[in-house]
Amino acid sequence: MTGPYLIAGNWKMNGLNSSLAVLEETARSCERMDGDVEVVMFLPATLLAVSSIVIKDTKLQLGGQDCSSERSGAFTGEISAEMLKDAGARFVMIGHSERRLRHAEGDDLVRQKAIQAIEVGLTALICIGESGQEKAEGKTLAVLSSQLTYSVPRVSSIDQIVIAYEPTWVTGTCVTPTLDEIAHVHRHIRSELLAHWGDSGQQIRILYGGSVQPSNAAEILAIAEVGGLLVGGASLDAKQFSAICEHGRSVRAAA
Ligand code: PGA
Repeated sequence: MTGPYLIAGNWKMNGLNSSLAVLEETARSCERMDGDVEVVMFLPATLLAVSSIVIKDTKLQLGGQDCSSERSGAFTGEISAEMLKDAGARFVMIGHSERRLRHAEGDDLVRQKAIQAIEVGLTALICIGESGQEKAEGKTLAVLSSQLTYSVPRVSSIDQIVIAYEPTWVTGTCVTPTLDEIAHVHRHIRSELLAHWGDSGQQIRILYGGSVQPSNAAEILAIAEVGGLLVGGASLDAKQFSAICEHGRSVRAAA
């Protein structure tokens, strides 16, 4: 995959105003990234507006962690894609496994949310991934094919779509699939994207997510179809996250 890597951090339900120093430090280290690495931090919605001021004029971009499948109206407690954009987000994450599993979000809802995001001009980072049981039953590729078919809207603006492969049995643990498994799955996702979009499917970035650390980032990024990383726990620590971004820069430089 050519073009800059996308290194995405996901703070999940962590972060208060007192955490903004971490974001500032991350933004400072992003200034070294040249054109080889793009960085986006997916923050709690409560921090987006203030963060966009704190990191103004830096290369760090911001994302929301979820959005409503509706445009606006009587949906108490929901946050629309347009609101996220208004607060300074350029991206929104959709269909993270914690939303799919803990909030029973299915592929249709994920697709509707992605449509909302794309319509307001955000880039939708759509997460897919198999459970431990599905993997044990040999269903990984079938599950991913189905999620790609039903979660990803068939829009022409593919520059507003990023896919994140995050096996749910890995998230928040210290294990990852083997490098061969990651390579195999990413090749499969690429072939599905090509089947759905023709040659332009080549331009959609596929990120790997799950237990990414400074110690494994370089070897994962070196896999042919890996276009970046989705980093949870390690994104809460500016030094660890910056080290992961630096690996992106050196892997690109060595390519
Ligand atoms: P992790 O989480 O890096 O802590 O495994 C990744 C994620 O769920 O986004």
